[in-house]
Amino acid sequence: MYIAVGLVLLCFVVLAVWTTWFRQKPDAPPMLPGFLPIIGHSHHLIGDRKLLSDPDDCLKLANTCYSKSYIYDFAKDFINNGLITADAATWKVNRKLLNPAFNQQVLDTFINEMNIQARNVVSNLKNELDKKSFDVLRHIVSFTLSTVSRTSLGLADEDQKIIDTDYAAAIDSIFALYCDRFQKVWLHLNFIFKWSEIKRKQDRLLKILHNIMIPVRYFCKFKPILDQMLQMASDHGVFSDEDIREHLDTLVAASYDTTSSAMTHMLLAIATYPEIQDRIYNEIQEVMQNKDDDFTKHDLQKLVYLEAVMKETLRLHSATPIIGRKIDVDIKLKNCTIRANSTSIIGVYALHRHPLWGPDANEFKPERWLDPSISSLLEKPALFAAFGIGKRNCIGRKSYSMLMMKIVLAHIVRQYHISGDINKVVCEFDIVLKPVSGHHIGLKLRS
Ligand code: HEM
Repeated sequence: MYIAVGLVLLCFVVLAVWTTWFRQKPDAPPMLPGFLPIIGHSHHLIGDRKLLSDPDDCLKLANTCYSKSYIYDFAKDFINNGLITADAATWKVNRKLLNPAFNQQVLDTFINEMNIQARNVVSNLKNELDKKSFDVLRHIVSFTLSTVSRTSLGLADEDQKIIDTDYAAAIDSIFALYCDRFQKVWLHLNFIFKWSEIKRKQDRLLKILHNIMIPVRYFCKFKPILDQMLQMASDHGVFSDEDIREHLDTLVAASYDTTSSAMTHMLLAIATYPEIQDRIYNEIQEVMQNKDDDFTKHDLQKLVYLEAVMKETLRLHSATPIIGRKIDVDIKLKNCTIRANSTSIIGVYALHRHPLWGPDANEFKPERWLDPSISSLLEKPALFAAFGIGKRNCIGRKSYSMLMMKIVLAHIVRQYHISGDINKVVCEFDIVLKPVSGHHIGLKLRS
């Protein structure tokens, strides 16, 4: 009886506090459907979130707040001060130091390795020929991991093997574990998490990952990204061994799932539209003069239609449909004010279908990227946010990831005719939006 009365009284007090202190301010953004007094949307997850889809608002937010939502802290034990998870102050310093490691001259030296890895995929795909369909994702995942780790670490073959097997398996498991924790809201609280089985499993995986990556610096054979970091460490007295390990793990972690998912969608898009596939093939044959040579930097620059198809796939099938930011200060947007200490979500999916893209925004039309009017459209840079927006965008965006994906796609289309249907794909959102079904394609050797 006393407990019931106590609970009712408590409810009155909480409601009174809410209505006086936390009531929606007149300039607050509209709430998403499903909002409840006091607990916000926490019955969906935790906390009260705003989803933004106006390009100017999104850019303003991305360039005002560099802090990530607390969800990114789940990976702190793994990549701590790496760019993805670093707090805003550390990130600013590190991003400035690391930007030069991704300059065009460095990346040009990766083209040879990327061609080698792409030819390996083409060769492995021979085992899949003439099947009605097969799961292409696993081939793409292994291509991405081999290419990124080879170009970032520059290991000799025998050392690389451990990355291709043990490291790949551990990183896959740790991503699955972060998703598991994300979905179990009670495990967001550290004091519960630290006693959980997931935490024990995480510790075991971290040990494996750290033991592989820490000695890597001593095996480095050529001039990849690792070498640039070692140079910075000695020139500027920055980056301890542990910092370097975190940055290398970050590069692999940031590229692994995103690039695999993007490339799988690109192959599926190419498979779905035969006239688009023919046009890509003809472009490749024309640029390469029907030869089976490796693609050089100049050849790649001429594959403009292939690039348009890649961008259009990233627009309609973005691997990162949302980006979360922690709001540090009040931000005045066009029609509302976002208050400090909340979380906001940049709606990449919505930006990519914004009415400014035109009445055909939902249609797959690579030609839009070749239309001269695209440059005036992209004066609002947030309209294309596949690689994030603002200063804390993807460090590997244009040159690294577009280069890697273009090379492998060009090799595959040159050898094989691809069949499949992107409209049958069912995706699941874990760390990125990934195809979980329907990512099956068929291949036939071109005559
Ligand atoms: C298609 C492939 C890729 C996509 C779609 C993609 C997408 C993104 C997005 C959306 C962000 C911003 C995340 C946020 O603000 O929370 C990001 C950040 C990042 N990406 Fe990528 N990425 C791709 C490939 C790569 C590759 C190949 C690398 C490395 C070589 C890479 C390294 C990074 C890093 C280090 C960050 C953190 C940047 C920072 O905070 O300064 N990404 N990526």
